[in-house]
Amino acid sequence: MFETQRKLVKETGRTRTPASDNLMETELGRERYTRSLPMNCPKQCYAMVGLPARGKSYIAHRLARYLNWIGTKSKVFNVGQYRRRLVGVNMTYDYYDPFNTTGAQSRRMVANHVLDTIIEWFKEDADNAVAILDATNTTRDRRDLILERCPPEGIQVMFIESVLDDTFIEERNIREHKLRCPDYQGCDPDDAFNDFSKRIENYKKAYETLCLNLDRELSFIRVSNITQFHINNLIGTVQSKSAYFLMNIRPHTKTTLYLSRHGESQFNELAKIGGDTNLTDNGVRYAKKLGKFLLENNLTDIPVWTSIMKRTIETCSHLPNQNVQRYKCLNEIDAGRCDGLTYKEIEETYPEEFALRDLDKYNYRYPQGESYQDVCCRLEPIIMDLEKQDQVLLICHQAVLRCIVGYFLNLSTDEIPYIKIPLHTVIKITPLAYGCEKEEISFGVESSVTHRDKQTQESIERRLLALDISNGDSSFVGHEEEINGNNEDVVSDRVVMMAS
Ligand code: F6P
Repeated sequence: MFETQRKLVKETGRTRTPASDNLMETELGRERYTRSLPMNCPKQCYAMVGLPARGKSYIAHRLARYLNWIGTKSKVFNVGQYRRRLVGVNMTYDYYDPFNTTGAQSRRMVANHVLDTIIEWFKEDADNAVAILDATNTTRDRRDLILERCPPEGIQVMFIESVLDDTFIEERNIREHKLRCPDYQGCDPDDAFNDFSKRIENYKKAYETLCLNLDRELSFIRVSNITQFHINNLIGTVQSKSAYFLMNIRPHTKTTLYLSRHGESQFNELAKIGGDTNLTDNGVRYAKKLGKFLLENNLTDIPVWTSIMKRTIETCSHLPNQNVQRYKCLNEIDAGRCDGLTYKEIEETYPEEFALRDLDKYNYRYPQGESYQDVCCRLEPIIMDLEKQDQVLLICHQAVLRCIVGYFLNLSTDEIPYIKIPLHTVIKITPLAYGCEKEEISFGVESSVTHRDKQTQESIERRLLALDISNGDSSFVGHEEEINGNNEDVVSDRVVMMAS
């Protein structure tokens, strides 16, 4: 492919000076690259750009978590980890000097190895996926290597540059994250700090920032000092959604979340799903204990976000917090035609529905209701707002909290619908360097158990077979026709599930 570009350069008759040689070639080549792949390319590589300690790994992990949650598989490939594996941990700052030929060759070898790994990852198990190449990629030459290698494999490239001019934040990043990395294990912290600072100076010698003039054909997002964004030539929905996400996160906000379901409701006690009932006596007892917990832990000033259902509003009425906001999008999953039934009643009345939900709980949509995927979609604005808060208490529902916990713990869509969110328990989510920690606080107030475990594949298949669904049984199709008039999406979802 690069040959084609060379030809293109020659055909255009543009002359080159030694200084602009690489640039001329790539400027035209890049145009080729950006146009050669489809709009919503199923394979994308986001290549981070920036000096060390600019929050690249942080951005990479946050973005990967978000992309996974919206259903686009994503994985971070950290070049530092590969470098340590391939060439060892004891590389001092001179290894990063651009004039150190051995170091430069070694670093290019590692970069190529990671690109091989990414290409292999796409071949083996990833489609509709984003690989995030977490490296410095500070030179145009290195970025061209990515452009040379990815598009011929059908992988579209977008760059994300993080620029930070704040020396205070830089120093904090180094001390909080970099000095703890395996490169400096057992080192004196001041020696490690000096070595890392010199490493940054070496990178600065060759740093070429992304710029509108020279890189206008590339897709890139340039984030300056966390607050300013330059968005250039993005292609397709996933890239645009990534930009939207980056514009919403505040890398230095450490959100601590307190999550709780409402106190036990009358429907919980009867093992019925959905509805809009009040709390039981146990539910009220829990709400009061939760209020006491907030008082004892000085959490009475934190905002409380809740749904618009009676059971959450009633729970909040027992809390000392004044700042309570109600959101419809925090309402429980809509069980549609199954609302108000117990699981046993659903199994008896709609055995096919029950089995199909077990087969693919995340994607299954209740007739005239919602799927977990639908719930995640409506929660997206809430997630964006949560990203900007210091502390929030959310009082909502089982399925909704599974989606929220799934986001913060970066769990897969297979795991999300089965996360245990017991009644009468506070779940505390605290941010770590690149992830989150979950802690459960329970107050010993009795409650019903509403969790239903994941069924074995074998038992689901046996049930489907007995219902003759696997070969397009008439009762299922009949039901499909019955709901056809109400909700076409439901029908198309089912067709997909049948096919799989
Ligand atoms: O049972 C309580 C409840 O909140 C229901 O209202 C809701 O349908 C259900 O949990 C969601 O859990 P699952 O997806 O496991 O059925």
